[in-house]
Amino acid sequence: MGATSNAGSYLARPPGDCCTKGCIHEGQPRGEYETIAGVETYIVQPPADRANGHIVLYLADVFGLYTNGLLVMDSFANAGYLVLGLDYFCGDPIWKHRPQPEAGEEPSYDIRDWMDPDFDFHGWLNKHIAFADEAVPRWTAAVKEQYGQADTKYACVGYCFGAPYVCDLLARDVVSAGAFAHPASLKDHHFANIKGPLFLSCTQDDYTFPNESRRKALDILHKGDKTWALQLFTNVEHGFALRSDLDDPYQRYVKDASFRGIVEWFDAWLSQRSG
Ligand SMILES: *[C@@H]1O[C@H](CO)[C@@H](O)[C@H](O)[C@H]1NC(C)=O
Repeated sequence: MGATSNAGSYLARPPGDCCTKGCIHEGQPRGEYETIAGVETYIVQPPADRANGHIVLYLADVFGLYTNGLLVMDSFANAGYLVLGLDYFCGDPIWKHRPQPEAGEEPSYDIRDWMDPDFDFHGWLNKHIAFADEAVPRWTAAVKEQYGQADTKYACVGYCFGAPYVCDLLARDVVSAGAFAHPASLKDHHFANIKGPLFLSCTQDDYTFPNESRRKALDILHKGDKTWALQLFTNVEHGFALRSDLDDPYQRYVKDASFRGIVEWFDAWLSQRSG
């Protein structure tokens, strides 16, 4: 059963326009690429003096393996984790669907400005959901086999498109802790079926996960006696954890607070003696 399949209406809507805008960050990602289970994977090592022996699995937003995401993966590595992120878009992230800018023209990073009007967003989305549903479980199994030791623990973090895979990995007991930020494509069962602890990093101004849906999700977590924590921001849009404008001090604060919240959640749960 795929992580995003199953009947029922959405609590967090599938990615939409709001998922395709934001700022591209500057920096030189320090990881490397490798093919794991046939899927291109970004892998970044923790500094030797800080390595904690545990692994973070990164489930990307619709931009895939782009600078912002790679730099966030580098940050999880700097915090002590070996980090791996798979390209479930197979070289076809959303930003590839842009017309070439005219000579001398600054490229816009709001895809709504540059998306080909004939681009079939839903066709694109469904194709990649089908692949990711199938690829994430076997990729995860291959990562465990190739990189795991007997005492390695796992955590997973997903942004937008990646959120249902976080819930799926928590439901299947593959990871000791999970987290998502500005999630998309979530139904009741995603919350009802989790086993391990879930951290939700959200904004109240989110098209994909509006107030009413978030409250319903919390009800499901509460009724199911799940372990969770909610971090809720105002005055930031969907995408805040990855595509904030870093020249804006408040947006920079929110992005950093989301990252810190997630990494501290992982640190706390992965250092428990059991689980
Ligand atoms: C959520 O509620 C707040 C406070 O009432 C409101 O300002 C905001 O627009 C709501 N968000 C959405 C996405 O409906």
